[in-house]
Amino acid sequence: MKARTEPSARDGYIRVKKLALIGAGKLGEGLLSGMLGSQLIPVGAVAATVAHQPRADYLASKYGVKAGVDNREAVAGADLVLVCLKPQQVKGFLHEVKKDLRKDALMISAAASVTTALIERELGHPARVIRAMPNTPCLIRHGMTAIARGQHATDEDVSLAQAIFRSMGRTVVADEKHMDAITGLSASGPAYVYLIIESLAEGGVKLGLPRDLSTELSAQTLLGASAMVLHTGEHPAKLKDVVTTPAGCTIDGLLELEEGGLRVTLIKAVVRAAQRARQLVESQNS
Ligand SMILES: NC(=O)c1ccc[n+]([C@@H]2O[C@H](COP(=O)([O-])OP(=O)(O)OC[C@H]3O[C@@H](n4cnc5c(N)ncnc54)[C@H](OP(=O)(O)O)[C@@H]3O)[C@@H](O)[C@H]2O)c1
Repeated sequence: MKARTEPSARDGYIRVKKLALIGAGKLGEGLLSGMLGSQLIPVGAVAATVAHQPRADYLASKYGVKAGVDNREAVAGADLVLVCLKPQQVKGFLHEVKKDLRKDALMISAAASVTTALIERELGHPARVIRAMPNTPCLIRHGMTAIARGQHATDEDVSLAQAIFRSMGRTVVADEKHMDAITGLSASGPAYVYLIIESLAEGGVKLGLPRDLSTELSAQTLLGASAMVLHTGEHPAKLKDVVTTPAGCTIDGLLELEEGGLRVTLIKAVVRAAQRARQLVESQNS
């Protein structure tokens, strides 16, 4: 499990002369902040775009990057284009900048449900394209981003995408055919986990714990248990067995969870969300 994540880190700036960061909203700003904070790219190499000038002014004054509302100007001469637009805006953007885009530019798209095939098709040349599926904890650098390559992207392109998204958390490289499953698991997953945190905290409240204390106990317990899985590389069942003393308290709690169908419910949640992701991909890419 550990072997496929986190390739060796590279020190210093990524080899990019000009980065066009298109759609610098929540995710785009998180990436900008992560990349500048990790000193992956110099401030002067970034040209960011958004839809509204006041947002551009905010980005320029906060980060010192060039920011505006002109996508064509931003992509002109860029060797890396990072697309953080809403999915439904991607096609329009590609049409808009097609003529200004360098043929040898690498395009990394974080737009949910937009496939590399769609981008390649819209650009009309054998473009190097990478698709990334981050999740919201990326915004505090504890994210999980899955990275899939298009048919013309190279190993070096994949490493570069990993270096970029590693500035916001962990990365894994996956085949694009798994992106719907990944969407249902790690992209939607934070919402499932918030529900679990909230429910555990309610258990504490039911037993008389103050709500703040209960929520902190619950959230840190999930964080710690997750870290145990990632750091030890042990199967979660084995770690569960360590907590579960014979005739102790935990086995009684586990019995309740089994009776309530927690496992099946979570499995079904991932499957349903992945099915919805597939529907969105089909409607987005037709
Ligand atoms: N947020 C996450 O953690 C997360 C996680 C996984 C995937 N994603 C994906 O990332 C993408 C962006 O999500 P988000 O949450 O960051 O959305 P967001 O905050 O709404 O950001 C979208 C940005 O695009 C800008 N924009 C709109 N039209 C534009 C255009 N024609 N040219 C240039 N910029 C334009 C908007 O500018 P204004 O601000 O000026 O309106 C806004 O800043 C989505 O495809 C989403 O699926 C996000």
